[in-house]
Amino acid sequence: MIGAGFMAKAHSMAYASMPMFFTNTEATPYRKTIVDVTEELAKAAAERLGFENYSTDWRSVVEDPEIDIIDIVTPNDSHAEIAIAAAKAGKHIISEKPLARNAKETKEMLEAVQQAKVRNMVAFNYRKTPAVALAKKFIDEGAIGKIMNFRGTYLQDWSADPESPLSWRFQKDKAGSGALGDIGTHVIDFAHYLVGDIAEVMATTQTWVKERPIQTGGIDSLGNVKGGNTEKGPVDVDDEISTLLRFKNGAVGSIEATRNAWGRHNFLTFEIHGEKGSLYFNYERRDELQVCFAEDGDDRRGYRTIYTGPAHPYGEGLWPIPGLGIGYSETKIVEVYHLIEAITKNQECEPNFLDGHKIALVSDAMLESAESQRWVRVDL
Ligand code: NAI
Repeated sequence: MIGAGFMAKAHSMAYASMPMFFTNTEATPYRKTIVDVTEELAKAAAERLGFENYSTDWRSVVEDPEIDIIDIVTPNDSHAEIAIAAAKAGKHIISEKPLARNAKETKEMLEAVQQAKVRNMVAFNYRKTPAVALAKKFIDEGAIGKIMNFRGTYLQDWSADPESPLSWRFQKDKAGSGALGDIGTHVIDFAHYLVGDIAEVMATTQTWVKERPIQTGGIDSLGNVKGGNTEKGPVDVDDEISTLLRFKNGAVGSIEATRNAWGRHNFLTFEIHGEKGSLYFNYERRDELQVCFAEDGDDRRGYRTIYTGPAHPYGEGLWPIPGLGIGYSETKIVEVYHLIEAITKNQECEPNFLDGHKIALVSDAMLESAESQRWVRVDL
């Protein structure tokens, strides 16, 4: 595992817990080595997160013959270099999202994994929420008919405070983009997963807080440690993006993402309107999928709430009755389960680097549109 911050904890918990939830897997993940550029962090993470050893040099680790999977949980600027080296060394790879800073990098990563024929996954874990997979099932079954509109949001407020420090997430050379790459890409993933490929975009971006206190220390604490009176540096990414969409299949829609929406914490939503019904999901109520089927009689037609449980996707592995609750950790557990299944059964991962590359193409088109103030086609 390369990187020892927030996502290292989430992924390590998932490797440890996955075999307790999904008992039918043919392989049990084993946590061998964790790497961080900061030795102190790497050492502490190895002890806390259950790794056998640690290192400060990812290059020595990607060559280790005892390691089968490289898990990339570093900031976005190092994903491409690490993934390409790991593919050349014949390792299966899971990389955090966005797959990289831009589509030029994701294309190189995609070519590397295709050439090496290694399994590759990009960690858009929100699609692993049972209610989201249930929405996909209903759409595939034709329960809401042909889709007309997808309306997605990802609203947070952790950076609304100007004292929230200038971490790597506010620097273009490290992050690629701001709210778009960090959270908007999760909504693009929902759009691709549930509706289909996006063909054209029209976007506008804003940077509300133009400079922030420089962060000290390696880990981004997502605004929880304020910058105080330290020196300030410029923010060169978007705080907010609003985008209109046209899909290849004729559907239309919109995506909004911001980290400056006071009162919204992880307000990741979609509403999908089809010719025969509608679906609504809000991650802040992640056990629930709201559905409305047009064929219901006039006197009872309306949104109703399905509480996910054993009758729904991943129900065989997760908790035995609806209402016990699904959390962020469970989405990561399902993600690891799918990764291990793909490797042992020699199947494609979903989502994979091709999905990550398509999302990068859409993101690049959104930034180009925000610049030119015109509709921009996505060349997939
Ligand atoms: P973080 O700032 O908490 O941790 C990153 C760690 O990587 C730091 O400890 C840093 O010292 C280390 N690092 C940086 N460059 C390195 C290198 N070359 N070699 C080894 N270690 C290096 O960051 P966080 O929040 O864990 O984000 C990591 C990735 O995960 C990002 O791509 C981010 O977009 C993604 N992410 C995904 C989420 C999801 O829900 N799927 C949620 C949060 C982050």
